[in-house]
Amino acid sequence: MTGLFVTLEGGEGAGKSTQARLLAARLERDGHAVLLTREPGGSPGAERLRALLLAGDHGLGLGSEILLHVAARMDHLERTILPALEAGQIVICDRFGDSTLAYQGYGMADGDPAVLAFIHGVAAVAYRAPDLTLLLDMPRTLARDRLIARGDPTDRYERLDEAFHQRVAAGFRAIAAAEPDRVVTVDGSLPQDTVLDRLLDSIRARLVP
Ligand code: TMP
Repeated sequence: MTGLFVTLEGGEGAGKSTQARLLAARLERDGHAVLLTREPGGSPGAERLRALLLAGDHGLGLGSEILLHVAARMDHLERTILPALEAGQIVICDRFGDSTLAYQGYGMADGDPAVLAFIHGVAAVAYRAPDLTLLLDMPRTLARDRLIARGDPTDRYERLDEAFHQRVAAGFRAIAAAEPDRVVTVDGSLPQDTVLDRLLDSIRARLVP
């Protein structure tokens, strides 16, 4: 048996985590075995790395920061994601490798081709690629309003400036354009139920009957 590996991606305030929870609940109601998980994190070791990565200033350079995200991801894959897929489950993962490309590659390194090539190279040898990636895209002004309503920023990436978040959003769009078969973009500014229905349609289209 092989399950289905679905990742959710997008900038801050796009509603990803809410949609991930709703998706998992709906698919379970349809009778599927579902694993809902997130990055950075999703295994005990990776959750420890999450605390380091998201806390104030970890004092590491960009290359080390990228490799820490990769280290967390490898542990998450080995201990959580791959066993669930082998058991035939649908894995819904809130963020995965595209977040490293968008945040570290496009956001922090401003799309530096050498950094993008480094991240792609590690991904090619270290990851099981998602079967489907759902990108929640929405205008930054709307995402920012949602974040302001949510309260103080909680992690170091959220606290970075508007230009950084614009580069991240452009990065996600570039990833979607480069891999149209894997990445489906959904407008996150639509009503929550409409977004959920579109995400579910994409997943159901990939489930083996
Ligand atoms: P979240 O739980 O709110 O999605 O927070 C995770 C934060 O970590 C978010 O700001 C995006 C960031 N992040 C990266 O910068 N690189 C990565 O590879 C991943 C998975 C997340």
